[in-house]
Amino acid sequence: MIETKNSTRRVTVISSISEMKEISQSFQKQNLTIGLVPTMGCLHEGHLSLIKKSLESCDKTVVSIFVNPTQFGPKEDLESYPRQFENDIEKLDEIGVDILFHPSKEEMYPTGYKTFVEVKNITEQLCGKSRPDLFQGVATVVLKLFNIVQPYNAFFGEKDWQQLAVIETLVKDINLDVAIIRVPLVRENDGLAMSSRNRYLSVQERQTALSLSRSLQKAQDHIRQGITSVKIISNLIQQNILETEGTKIDYISICDPLSFKEKEQIRGRTLIALAVKVGPSRLIDNCIIEEI
Ligand code: PAJ
Repeated sequence: MIETKNSTRRVTVISSISEMKEISQSFQKQNLTIGLVPTMGCLHEGHLSLIKKSLESCDKTVVSIFVNPTQFGPKEDLESYPRQFENDIEKLDEIGVDILFHPSKEEMYPTGYKTFVEVKNITEQLCGKSRPDLFQGVATVVLKLFNIVQPYNAFFGEKDWQQLAVIETLVKDINLDVAIIRVPLVRENDGLAMSSRNRYLSVQERQTALSLSRSLQKAQDHIRQGITSVKIISNLIQQNILETEGTKIDYISICDPLSFKEKEQIRGRTLIALAVKVGPSRLIDNCIIEEI
C-alpha cells in the first residue's frame, strides 16, 4: 500500500494486484458490494458522474487509473496522454472514493505477457477502423480489472458508446458476474463532450472542437423536422464540421446502436457517432435518436 502524505486522506491507494485482490475478497466476506470505475485518469466531471453513480449504489467504490498501453496504436498518444495523478487523488478523496487501484505497466503486463481478448463483429467499424488495436486492448484490460477487483457493478460512460457495447458483449459472451451500468455523456456548458484529451486543445482549437456537438445538435433538429435520409443528415454534419477550419473528419456514422451497421434511413433507434481530428486531438462525440 502506498502511504499518503496527507493524514486526513480517506482514499487508499493500491498498486499491487495481490493486495487489491485481498481487499476485494475481504469486502466480499463482509457482504459489501463493490462498484468499479475503470479510468485512465486526468479525471473530469464525466468520470466523476460515473463515480457518483457507484458511490450511490455500491457499499465500496474502487476507481482504477491505468493508462493502458495495449489500447494505444504505435503512432498514438500513449506517451503524451495527460497524467495528473496528484490532482486526481484530490478529486477522489473529496468525493469519498474508498480505493484507488493504480497499478504499474509492469504489474499489469509483466515480461512474457501473452493473452489478449477479442470481441468480434462490433469492433471493426467506427473507432475500430482507424484504431485497430483499441478494442482488443480495452477488452483485455477491462477483463483483467474485473478479475482483480471482482466488482458487483462496473460503470462506463456513453461518451464511448462503442466501447460500452464491446464491454457488454464481453460480459455476456463469457458469462461474467458483473452488471455493466451505463452512464450518460457529460458535456461542458457550451456542449463540448468532456474528455481528458480536451486538455491538448489550444483556446482556438477548443472553439473549433465545438463543431462536433453543434453538428450533432443541428442533425437532431433536422431529424425532428422529419428528415430521415441518412445521406442528407450525413452531408449536413460533414458541411458543418468542414466549414470550421482546422478539422479533419475520421468518420461520421449513422448506424444501428448495437450492431453498428450503417443505415440508409433514420428509422428505429439510431446512433450518430463522430470522430474528428482537431489540432493534435482526435475527439469523439455521439447522440442517440430514439425511435421515430
Ligand atoms: P477514460 O477515457 O479515462 O474513460 C473512463 C470512463 O469515463 C469511460 O467509461 C468513459 O466512457 C467515461 N467518460 C469519459 N468521458 C465522459 C463523458 N464526457 N461523459 C460520460 N462518461 C465519460 O475509457 C477509458 O478511459 C479506457 O478505455 C478504459 C475503459 C479505462 C480502459 O482502459
